[in-house]
Amino acid sequence: MRRRSLLAVFFFVVLLPACSWQSTHTPPPALHDAAIATAHPLATQAGVQILQQGGNAFDAAVAVTAVLAVVEPYSSGLGGGGFWLLHKARDNTQVMIDGREKAPLAAHRDMYLDADGEVIPRASVDGPLSAGIPGVPAAMAHLARHYGRLPLKQSLQPAITLARNGFAVDEHYRRMAQFRQSVLQNWEDGEAIFLQDGEVPDVGYIIRQPDLANTLEQIANQGADGFYKGEIAGKLVRSVRENGGIWTLQDLAQYSIVERLPLQFSYNGMRVTSVTPPSSGGVALAQIFNMLALGNYDKLNAVDKKHLLIEAMRRAYRDRAEYLGDSDVVDVPVIELASMAHARQLLANLDMQRATPSADLPPVAVDKLDGPDTTHFSIVDKQGNRVAATLSINYPFGSCFVAEGTGVLLNDEMDDFSSKPGSPNVYGLVGAEANAIAPGKRMLSSMSPSFAEYNNRIAVLGTPGGSRIITMVLLGLLQFYDGADATTIVNAPRMHHQYLPDKVFYEPGALPPERIAALQQKGHVLQQLDSTYGNMQVVVMDRNTGRLNAASDKRGVGSAQVLTVE
Ligand code: DON
Repeated sequence: MRRRSLLAVFFFVVLLPACSWQSTHTPPPALHDAAIATAHPLATQAGVQILQQGGNAFDAAVAVTAVLAVVEPYSSGLGGGGFWLLHKARDNTQVMIDGREKAPLAAHRDMYLDADGEVIPRASVDGPLSAGIPGVPAAMAHLARHYGRLPLKQSLQPAITLARNGFAVDEHYRRMAQFRQSVLQNWEDGEAIFLQDGEVPDVGYIIRQPDLANTLEQIANQGADGFYKGEIAGKLVRSVRENGGIWTLQDLAQYSIVERLPLQFSYNGMRVTSVTPPSSGGVALAQIFNMLALGNYDKLNAVDKKHLLIEAMRRAYRDRAEYLGDSDVVDVPVIELASMAHARQLLANLDMQRATPSADLPPVAVDKLDGPDTTHFSIVDKQGNRVAATLSINYPFGSCFVAEGTGVLLNDEMDDFSSKPGSPNVYGLVGAEANAIAPGKRMLSSMSPSFAEYNNRIAVLGTPGGSRIITMVLLGLLQFYDGADATTIVNAPRMHHQYLPDKVFYEPGALPPERIAALQQKGHVLQQLDSTYGNMQVVVMDRNTGRLNAASDKRGVGSAQVLTVE
């Protein structure tokens, strides 16, 4: 495949009508309502409060981001990163705020390998060495300054109050804390904040975070500088370095978010807007939808539909492993990968009767399955502004390391890099070079906040779920295409294939026995998972009536609200 510089890609993106910033549809009528769906009721409440104070969707996004950082410490936080996909009603344009973490300047490609070149277990997952330079504080300040109507201070207030006064532990918190309890016990600050005398807290136990309240206040008063420079930056760097990490003051001072052109593509008239690298989500979605279009997905029977879906997932995930990485550092052939011509090539060996073994595709490195957390929220305000944001600190409770005196729980996003890129393996792997560790580089993500427009309806959606994020958003988009409402979209059963391991994973009950048998007959290996997965948050808008409906995944503890704003 021919590679092109990012500049050339942007040039093409601007020129191609299917990939432009501007929405092709006319703006929707003025709405009376606004809607918010998030993974935590306190975050939804804070978003509603900010809208009622005269804020727009972008102010609400700041408030929700900050509150999630306080009440969902296992999912996202000031010490993490994310992507905020924005639609501005005023000029009908879309932009992606890339607040993804960056590798520290002292990072290097072999930093997680031992003297024998083997990956050191847990080194990229636990403790401060696993943490990239956070993007959330910079993204919140940017959102407030360039898109919001309210002062940052006002939008951060609900989070400051919750950090100071505390929030109550629920069953979900307990499950996440249990999963990471032994690692949280390694460092004093994290243990004291998130555990109760070293144990998983009881339901109803109040988690208070005064240091985090103070850090949020510094951001409220000084903007991003309150985190990336001065007192907090000093504390972060000192604590990280004292505990084996490699951050410097320069890392923090140099961090900046990037505004990127979102990726747009169409599927039978449905226009999808999603993220570009350093997320693999938009590209993979475009590839899969292109393959579905070429395979006449809509016209197939139920078994063949599943077969084509699986084959398209398999092929897109193989490409992801080979080509995708931070496009600011490596050439990622976004336009070629997302083209119909490439989809045609990918389907050249498709057999509608038989599964294509992944081993028969050109080999690349195996991608890891991510741990079970991260968060997403969707917001539409009464002007028609939209935000789809997926945020992460990677594993539950990220690295489990809280920098002393800051309350900031650091991510372990460095694990999203390939720790051992380009190493010859038994399959003669060529891949993962694009996602090798390099100083200042952003690690590849699967987070896929997206918008879709079809038949006078608009969807704002996304979900956590590691490598399964992309296939969940895909299935959600297919539900929307079929006319489903927000509740049906978030609660629909899920299945997933990611090239390697060569298996179809499905939620308990997601596939009827006869469908499983028919797919097995075609040669697919299927595995029912022990539990459900994902936590999708969706808002759907009807352009004709201006009405909204919103839903939070039944698998999580979140809430959705449609409200009338005067
Ligand atoms: O950026 C990524 O793709 C991962 N850090 C996301 C991790 C995740 O979704 C874990 N989730 N359930």
